[in-house]
Amino acid sequence: MQPDRKSSDANAETTANIVSQALEAGYRHIDTAQSYGTERGVGRAIAASGIARDELFITSKLANDNHAPDDVRRSVNQTLNNLGLDQLDLFLIHWPLPTLYGGDYASTWATLTELVAEGRLRSAGVSNFQPAHLDRIVAETGITPVVNQFELHPYFANDEACEASRRHGIAVEAHSPLGHNRAPLTDDTIGQVAAAHGKSTAQVILRWHMQHGHIAIPKSTRPQRMHENIAVFDFELTPDQMASIDALNRGPTGRVGPNPDTYEG
Ligand code: A2P
Repeated sequence: MQPDRKSSDANAETTANIVSQALEAGYRHIDTAQSYGTERGVGRAIAASGIARDELFITSKLANDNHAPDDVRRSVNQTLNNLGLDQLDLFLIHWPLPTLYGGDYASTWATLTELVAEGRLRSAGVSNFQPAHLDRIVAETGITPVVNQFELHPYFANDEACEASRRHGIAVEAHSPLGHNRAPLTDDTIGQVAAAHGKSTAQVILRWHMQHGHIAIPKSTRPQRMHENIAVFDFELTPDQMASIDALNRGPTGRVGPNPDTYEG
């Protein structure tokens, strides 16, 4: 297990300020990860917020070098310490890595299901899992993840991961929901839909996610955009507008992050 090496105090302070602004703006779901080095900052913001624990939904993810069973347990304890919490609402296997670090994502999944049974985790899920990864862990443990988080936005509809997740009854959570490299944010078609509603392109993209039933977790460090990204509950895209955004899918060429089939951590 690696030490929490990226969490310097300065980093924690910066993260805490940003997360505090998000909580102030009304956000209640915070998505962090062991590998982001942001857990201690998130913990500071939670503690300073005074918001009741049961109003918050806190997610973190297992770092790729913590797959060995003892490291899973130790690192979950470290994550809870960093966050100042007794229990995580959701904990994900960040990547379905094989045996690179002496672990195996199927045995890692079995350990997470034990931690749910023990009450350290309220629920457990996965991230960047492709159909074969999902099939394997469900077949080997008989326990289905509650969530699969993967790259998903109008330029990359990620049909395979969506279809497999839905087939297993797993909630689809979109990371990089705005396209990360910002390309969908300047798309002409999305711009026209946005103009028709008097909304921004980011708001239209987030609405597209919601109407498809995706959980979307847009990231912003800027309060004005935080407010913008949460103001998406007062308009609705028409079926034609949804279809025009669906048609922007570029398949795998629209992917901006690593491909889970080839990623090695
Ligand atoms: P910033 O933090 O400067 O606001 P994704 O969640 O798809 O990875 O996208 C995150 C990126 O999109 C961040 O770089 C963020 O930049 C930017 N972003 C977030 N919200 C908006 C918005 N409403 N309009 C434009 N860019 C945004």
